[in-house]
Amino acid sequence: MLSRLIYHSENHLGAVGGKMIADLNKIMDASNKNNERDGITGALIFDTLWFVQILEGDREKISATLRRLMADNRHDAVTIVDCREITERRFGNWWMGLAMLRGNTDEIYARHGIGPRLDPRKLTGEQVVAVALELAQGGLNRRLAEAA
Ligand SMILES: Cc1cc2nc3c(=O)[nH]c(=O)nc-3n(C[C@H](O)[C@H](O)[C@H](O)COP(=O)(O)O)c2cc1C
Repeated sequence: MLSRLIYHSENHLGAVGGKMIADLNKIMDASNKNNERDGITGALIFDTLWFVQILEGDREKISATLRRLMADNRHDAVTIVDCREITERRFGNWWMGLAMLRGNTDEIYARHGIGPRLDPRKLTGEQVVAVALELAQGGLNRRLAEAA
């Protein structure tokens, strides 16, 4: 059964910097590998306080991913925003795309009524999808550039 799960969580990666980016890249590498295997697509939006993730795929596979995610101490307070059956994928090109709240994305967040800081507790699932799709048009990242 094709389903979509959206959750937000508290980012425990610590302050922005080389280590946070390296940690994020580890998450993205594991996610892209596992999600390709499991047929899961989606997007991960983050800033220094929050993660917001959209997962699309088979209900059993999404649930298994959620169980692994909830045991991961790189974030906490996993909170379900929305979970439903869907008829088609919206992020079919992305095993997991990454978008960060900074500079050039401020305008997009503002247009969706978000900002100056991301607060996913105030967002509906549809708002999360709309923002992620707009961010995806500009190209999501697989990884972030690590400082030399
Ligand atoms: C915010 C966040 C998002 C994550 N997203 C995914 C994901 O989409 N898919 C995935 O397999 N693991 C994801 N992970 C990593 C899992 O918690 C876990 O570390 C990983 O699935 C273990 O993979 P492994 O058994 O291949 O080492 C995420 C972790 C965090 C903190």
